[in-house]
Amino acid sequence: CMQSSKLVDEFGVVHLSAGDLLRAHMKSGSKDGNMVAEMIKNGQIVPSHVTVSLLEAAMQKSGKDKFLIDGFPRNDENRAAFEKQTGIAPVCVLFFDCAEDVMQERLLARQEGRTDDNIETIKKRFKVFKDQSMPVIEYYESQNKVAKIDGEKSPDDVYIDVRNAYIK
Ligand code: C5P
Ligand code: MG
Repeated sequence: CMQSSKLVDEFGVVHLSAGDLLRAHMKSGSKDGNMVAEMIKNGQIVPSHVTVSLLEAAMQKSGKDKFLIDGFPRNDENRAAFEKQTGIAPVCVLFFDCAEDVMQERLLARQEGRTDDNIETIKKRFKVFKDQSMPVIEYYESQNKVAKIDGEKSPDDVYIDVRNAYIK
């Protein structure tokens, strides 16, 4: 996304998107590709061993040691599996807060050919976020690691806040 590429340009972090890695994996014809495709279409969270392995491989391949991991962890299983498998915990967690009607409008307006940008899956994704992802935000909040960003502003204004959170 735009926020990530700005952080990459300005601070030299390596951007890894869990969703992008899963979408590439699903098209690779691998053995769990069909399972991943089905889960994405239904807005469900893919089992952590798949996602963590993809992230770990991408981190190793980059040869770098500073990462912006986008769209991860999405549930407590994601979080625990990543910390266990890599031994890495985040320094800071960016939480983009945005009303569901605004997100819905943005998702339906973008034309990226995704199987999950339809109204039915969007509703499921919102529910999964509330039920499974919010507890992860609360966990990191208890560690004072969350920077809450107003995601309803324009992309340039959002980046001002992202940048401030990053340099703090
Ligand atoms: O983050 P993004 O919107 O690209 O995620 C799209 C979908 O990919 C999610 O709804 C979910 O099905 C899957 N996903 C996942 N685990 C993650 C990130 C994404 O299963 N950590
Ligand atoms: Mg994404």
